[in-house]
Amino acid sequence: MKLYQVSGYQEMCQKAAALLCSQIAEKPNSVLGLATGSTPIGVYKLLVQAHERGEVSFGPLTTFNLDEYCGLGKSDPQSYYYYMNENLFGSVDIDSTRAFIPNGKAEDIAAECAAYEEKITAAGGIDLQILGIGNNGHIAFNEPGEFFEKHTHCVDLDEKTIAANARFFTHPEDVPRRAITMGIKTIFAARKILLLANGAGKKDIMQLALHGPITPKVPASILQLHPDLTVIWSAE
Ligand code: PGA
Repeated sequence: MKLYQVSGYQEMCQKAAALLCSQIAEKPNSVLGLATGSTPIGVYKLLVQAHERGEVSFGPLTTFNLDEYCGLGKSDPQSYYYYMNENLFGSVDIDSTRAFIPNGKAEDIAAECAAYEEKITAAGGIDLQILGIGNNGHIAFNEPGEFFEKHTHCVDLDEKTIAANARFFTHPEDVPRRAITMGIKTIFAARKILLLANGAGKKDIMQLALHGPITPKVPASILQLHPDLTVIWSAE
């Protein structure tokens, strides 16, 4: 594990954006795994700026997002599809036919999950996966539980996750209860993983995830075993 302990959100974002730009420079047709949430917003902003300066092209990339809420469509401002367009895809030269996000409105969710997994395999697997971490230790929407869920699946969200996500919704009852998420095995299969964590609120869970026992009760703890994990952590 490479651990960068940085001072503040901006430094975390700069370091992460620099690593992503190097990945794209080294392999312009990389397959990137992308995350949503508040943590990577500043990273995406810096990538958009780098693109505007002509320093990076997203054209040859393929991307897979980690997760999507069940029941939210592309035009719903709370969907991760909408988030990606707002924060990155709408401002760069990404090929939208190769920017994949699970379809939260799929009629057959199980088939959607299986197809998503197949698309990742067909793309040759993920070169670099960006991850945030939930207050409960989740990565993507792999919630604490009795075992590690392997593949892309539909999940009932944890009460802590629903409470944490309520800040993005006008009415707490609008927060979706279910989501499609890549599984732990899907994430773990990425050749490189970049875990980002920001703020004092993540301090305890980061200590547990990086230095505590490896257990499905703290899903991020599995990352201790990954052969190419980089962590950028601002604990302020
Ligand atoms: P956050 O969420 O970036 O909004 O803190 C992270 C997560 O829940 O994975």
